[in-house]
Amino acid sequence: MRALPVVFDCDPGKDDAFAIFLALACPEALNVLAITTLGGNVPIEHTTGNALRILAAASRTDIPVYRGCARPMLKALETAEESHGVDGLGGSGLPDVSGAPQPDHAIAAIIRMLETCPEQLTIAAIGPLTNIAMVLIARPDLADKIGHLAVMGGAQGRGNMTEYAEFNIHVDPHAAHVALSVCAPITLVTLDTTRNLRPPMSWFEAMEHANEPARALAGMWREAPIALYDVAVTALLLWPELFTLEACTIDVVLEGERAGQTVITTGEGKDRLLTGIDEVALLSRIAQTMTG
Ligand code: BDR
Ligand code: CA
Repeated sequence: MRALPVVFDCDPGKDDAFAIFLALACPEALNVLAITTLGGNVPIEHTTGNALRILAAASRTDIPVYRGCARPMLKALETAEESHGVDGLGGSGLPDVSGAPQPDHAIAAIIRMLETCPEQLTIAAIGPLTNIAMVLIARPDLADKIGHLAVMGGAQGRGNMTEYAEFNIHVDPHAAHVALSVCAPITLVTLDTTRNLRPPMSWFEAMEHANEPARALAGMWREAPIALYDVAVTALLLWPELFTLEACTIDVVLEGERAGQTVITTGEGKDRLLTGIDEVALLSRIAQTMTG
């Protein structure tokens, strides 16, 4: 089977880094064409620098990095240094790198990849959806070149930024509204199924004694653990048999105290909501992949 062509649109971020490292550890299944960045967990300078650090740590500097939107469409950027560290990869010990992102903007790069990719592209969107929305605003005709938009964002239950809103949607609800209403098909990985994806520190022990990038992951989680939110998106692409999905429709609340809430109705619709994970099997496969 040919490796699935995928673009990671992201704001690394510890769990973004983990999601990318996991993908890069499985080149026979996933062909990472590019990493596009945006402001999110930390400002764009850091998320872009971190994408370059991640690729250097995985010895994959052949993969291009494109710097994208610095801020959300209408709101000021809210960041999450308390979870990810000041530079976004707190505790990783990964050195700064001298490389630079590609000269093109991420929006232009995604448009070009959609135009030229002989098959449909999968986009793993694991940050706010600003870049994706801008692509779809600029070139709605390319929406059907996206074979699958796999998104980490939203919640049916409690949010992690407000009672209702999850971080990626909260940061740019307007972009989420555009991206989630235009694109087909979408798989939504929400807080409901990922907030408890928190392996104990003992799970990281083997990684601590392994080479990069496993060592860097163990360092980040030892400093301040967070749930493996974004990692679930990569895992879904790699091992769909470990996940339960339900057809759904998704809407985003734009105003009022519920702003940033995802309104998800299951039962029918073109999109799919991740509703179940075989966590034991998943953690075992991730550990094996990262240390093996
Ligand atoms: C999401 O927000 C970010 O902090 C994480 O990287 C993840 O994409 C979880 O709410
Ligand atoms: Ca993220």
